[in-house]
Amino acid sequence: MSNEETKISVSKTVPPVGSGVNEPDMTDWKQVADRYFMPTVKRCPLTLVKGKGARVWDDHGNEYLDFVGGWAVTSLGHCHPVVVEALVRQAQELIQASNQFYTVPQTKLARLLVENSCLDRVFLCNSGAEADEGAVKLARRFGKLHLNGAFEVITAFDSFHGRTLAMVAATGQRKFQEPYIPMPDGFINVVFNDLSAIKSATSGRTCAVMLEPIQGEGGVNVPDAGYLKEVRGWCDEKGILLILDEVQTGLGRIGSVFGYQQYGVEPDVLTLAKGLGSGVPIGAILCKEKASVFQPGDHGSTFGGNPLTCAAAYATVKYILDNDVSGQVKKVGGYLISELHKMKAHFKNITEVRGLGLLVAAEFNQDIAEDLVMACMKHGLLLNKVKPNTVRFIPPLIITEKDVDQALNILKRTLQHIGD
Ligand SMILES: Cc1ncc(COP(=O)(O)O)c(C=O)c1O
Repeated sequence: MSNEETKISVSKTVPPVGSGVNEPDMTDWKQVADRYFMPTVKRCPLTLVKGKGARVWDDHGNEYLDFVGGWAVTSLGHCHPVVVEALVRQAQELIQASNQFYTVPQTKLARLLVENSCLDRVFLCNSGAEADEGAVKLARRFGKLHLNGAFEVITAFDSFHGRTLAMVAATGQRKFQEPYIPMPDGFINVVFNDLSAIKSATSGRTCAVMLEPIQGEGGVNVPDAGYLKEVRGWCDEKGILLILDEVQTGLGRIGSVFGYQQYGVEPDVLTLAKGLGSGVPIGAILCKEKASVFQPGDHGSTFGGNPLTCAAAYATVKYILDNDVSGQVKKVGGYLISELHKMKAHFKNITEVRGLGLLVAAEFNQDIAEDLVMACMKHGLLLNKVKPNTVRFIPPLIITEKDVDQALNILKRTLQHIGD
């Protein structure tokens, strides 16, 4: 054994699995995971092993109706046949190639996204944070070239743009920033749904405003109908870019292919991820020609545009477009919201129901979200706590009204025993 290896094993404070000390039961995946992972997330005590449509199964064979959907990711449901088929076919042909070369799946995906949006150019990456950070880099390039070096990006309180250091600074939530202070420069967080706040924060240093059409992780906050139009007008007046973060709202989630279509605005830059690949990790930055300022070498990614993920994303987007999934979301999401409003009339502890399409939240008069999520789980429904007093409904886009009825029946039964 080398000195280095000796040093490593001696410095370990937690005995490894196989050491005979505190040996976890190898079939208890929760225990094994808790031993090996950095504890970055408080997980539900459930090990998922299988998914189909809007349902998942745990390692004991129990079935759950999944209204979490991998955090608004499994847009076509779990293991949709068109996605599985695209993955299997592509896995047999070409899994990875560097962006030094052209590949077919990424080219087909880029064309599909551009031809069905108001944007002209695409950069493909691997996640929402990476897409948003790339969008900010694009805006800074734009600022250097066209706005005398302006570099600041105005974002909103209660927004969420990801977990990289720069995107934590962009994310207007103290709880994500505090552990990592000092924050990188160049972001100003202002009140959401208030044009005057953006106006006051705008200066000669501003190159862009970045907003979510509806704030997802911040609690499903829907702005006034005219807000984005006003922001668009202000950005035009100042010659700065409007970046819409549609990582969560994009690709059918709120009842239109893109969220901006419901607000009568066109962004200069748009980011996507989550539902884009119906479960595979992929993100995208789209932009208008005027904002397409990256030159070769300015930005890049090893896995961005990977043939395997692009094949799945192409199959996903094509299915969403060909089958009017957004129209279905509008209907079933409308049904979910109206049924929740009916519940609100009966359950005094529900104080607010908000959202659009299948990005919906119910707020309570007490911090019962965690208890509610756990209790619903025991009855076969998976929900997401988005705030201590708020649960979020972000199921696959293909759910039916029957699924909504099943979910809300579980929720009603559970609520009768929680809070007051
Ligand atoms: C609007 C929005 N932007 C960015 C992100 C970050 O995406 P990712 O977790 O894929 O990095 C999220 C994630 O929840 C999001 O909701």
